[in-house]
Amino acid sequence: MKTLVVLLSLSLSSASPHADEHKFKIWMSQYNKQYDSVEYHHRLKTFIDNKERIDQHNAGNHSFRMDLNQFSDLSFAEFKKLYLWKEPQNCSATKGGHISKNGPYPDFVDWRKNGNYVTPVKNQGSCGSCWTFSTTGCLESAIAIATGKLLFLSEQQLVDCAQNFNNHGCNGGLPSQAFEYILYNKGLMTENGYPYTAQEGKCKFRPDMASAFVKEVINITKYDEMGMVDVVARLNPVSLAYEVTSDFMHYSEGIYTSTICHNTTDKVNHAVLAVGYGTKDGTPYWIVKNSWGPEWGIDGYFYIERGKNMCGLAACSSYPIGHL
Ligand SMILES: *[C@@H]1O[C@H](CO)[C@@H](O)[C@H](O)[C@H]1NC(C)=O
Ligand SMILES: *[C@@H]1O[C@H](CO)[C@@H](O)[C@H](O)[C@H]1NC(C)=O
Ligand SMILES: *[C@@H]1O[C@H](CO)[C@@H](O)[C@H](O)[C@H]1NC(C)=O
Ligand SMILES: *[C@@H]1O[C@H](CO)[C@@H](O)[C@H](O)[C@H]1NC(C)=O
Repeated sequence: MKTLVVLLSLSLSSASPHADEHKFKIWMSQYNKQYDSVEYHHRLKTFIDNKERIDQHNAGNHSFRMDLNQFSDLSFAEFKKLYLWKEPQNCSATKGGHISKNGPYPDFVDWRKNGNYVTPVKNQGSCGSCWTFSTTGCLESAIAIATGKLLFLSEQQLVDCAQNFNNHGCNGGLPSQAFEYILYNKGLMTENGYPYTAQEGKCKFRPDMASAFVKEVINITKYDEMGMVDVVARLNPVSLAYEVTSDFMHYSEGIYTSTICHNTTDKVNHAVLAVGYGTKDGTPYWIVKNSWGPEWGIDGYFYIERGKNMCGLAACSSYPIGHL
């Protein structure tokens, strides 16, 4: 009898080391991971810690779910070093230039469904260059909405060349400052003309190959989330920044919300692109394009609660007026 109980509890326990290691090996082959033996044991331990956290979260009553993904062998400290800003950026439009109309606004907006206005989700790789993807995404849409032409624009040019506008390549930067660079530097090349490498290199901008231009940079006053709604409803997707905390790297679906992230300009550490908004079961949310590849989240997108400056998402948002 006693043996039976022990056997039962063994086979029922999902936390058995053997089952976890098996899951890890499947995950490794799914994501093409290889380690030497020292690294293997370290990564296995981190993977198990992450998996326990994910299972615990999903067993609770939350508005979003977590799942294993390409980051599941990383601690949050490691993730932060590889993918987020290294220090706070000058995100603080005390008085922005955007002037809101009075609405009324549609209940649901999704620029992906309004026409050919949003490029597929890209992947920043191991480089804190999220701000360049937020920038290209926003300008790609601005130009597509104005001209009907959807270009794929160069992040690498911004990584390599936009330092004079307080941008720092793989260590961070701001979409508003990148729009200013494009404005004053006179143009941005295409993805094909200046391809992405996920590393900082020498600036190879060729003015004769510039394809997209910025006529005006418009900041939205900090914490004016209704101003962001006004822009997304009437004009364009919006570049925004917010604070990524440790649970966010495991996000898989649903409306992200947090009680631990901060909501001020000095704490935001990741830039993305709001392409729409809606409301589900009474909870308003943003539809946001990320730059961690199409396999992360909801086909590369996530939803985050709207109307509360969640994780500082209204701290520094902006958009450009673009032209060809
Ligand atoms: C789950 O959370 C929702 C929203 O907070 C709440 O309305 C609902 O009652 C909760 N359900 C359970 C089973 O606790
Ligand atoms: C913020 O702006 C100041 C003044 O222009 C500049 O010296 C500093 O490097 C900027 N900080 C960052 C992180 O870019
Ligand atoms: C927009 O805000 C950035 C800082 O985030 C600032 O450098 C820039 O000068 C502002 N641009 C305008 C047009 O106000
Ligand atoms: C940040 O959150 C705190 C606590 O919920 C709130 O009191 C404060 O108004 C928020 N600040 C901003 C700028 O959203």
